[in-house]
Amino acid sequence: MELVVETFNLTKRYGRETVVSDLNLGVRAGEIFGFLGPNGAGKTTTLLMLLGLSEPSAGEAKVLGLNPVKEPLAVKSKVGYLPENTGFYGDLTALENLAFVAELNSLEKVEGLLAETLKLVSLYEVKDRLVSTFSRGMRQRLGLAEVLIKKPQLIFLDEPTLGLDPEGIATMLGLIERLPREMGLSVVLSSHLLHLVAKVAHRVAILNKGRLLALGSVESLAQEAGVEANLEEVYRRYFQTAEVDGAGEAA
Ligand SMILES: Nc1ncnc2c1ncn2[C@@H]1O[C@H](COP(=O)(O)OP(=O)(O)OP(=O)(O)O)[C@@H](O)[C@H]1O
Ligand SMILES: [Mg+2]
Repeated sequence: MELVVETFNLTKRYGRETVVSDLNLGVRAGEIFGFLGPNGAGKTTTLLMLLGLSEPSAGEAKVLGLNPVKEPLAVKSKVGYLPENTGFYGDLTALENLAFVAELNSLEKVEGLLAETLKLVSLYEVKDRLVSTFSRGMRQRLGLAEVLIKKPQLIFLDEPTLGLDPEGIATMLGLIERLPREMGLSVVLSSHLLHLVAKVAHRVAILNKGRLLALGSVESLAQEAGVEANLEEVYRRYFQTAEVDGAGEAA
């Protein structure tokens, strides 16, 4: 089984606080991997370490066979990243924003590529509108277009459905679901909502307070928790367990 991400006791400390603790996980090529956990669990910190944007305090990671600490530029050129908050030029159109990214990355045959990418994220019809007039859902899709236009092999999407309405969420998840099939991409999708990620993820990891609590298919996690088909309950049980553990540590 080819792994596109592997972590070996990956750890991040800020001062005395350990925010990612001995994380061991693997993401398989061609899968959508849900990276779940409540606020402050360490999801973004982990993604930043995988991208070579934050240095681990201990342990290491391999991303597409590369070490992000030693080869950060190679990692960034192959891995797409949609951060929690994406910035755009509001006084440029969607097409102009995307063309700017293409130019920064010295992409070739750009005209066809721009149109193709805008169509993929269903923004072609509105490509000449100023981004300042875009809804949050449209902005998130433009963010995804900026990631995809660079033809990455692996993408990290940090809370891509945050703040979207139900229709926006469905559109975004539908789009994400197509990426492995149509573009051969591997996707890491972070979120604090299990029931959303469960719709598209092949496997999920549940993180809390920097520790990995569970890893597997949604069905297998539900079975382990003994509450089949009730995802809210599955999620709640993992966090209840975590709180009991946490209390034990504090004592
Ligand atoms: N630069 C930093 N300096 C100090 N502490 C930090 C720093 N970045 C993150 N933290 C802390 O690390 C912990 C994990 O944060 P992180 O942003 O990785 O969580 P998250 O799972 O992405 O949460 P969210 O769902 O809110 O985005 C938090 O307690 C946060 O306060
Ligand atoms: Mg985060």
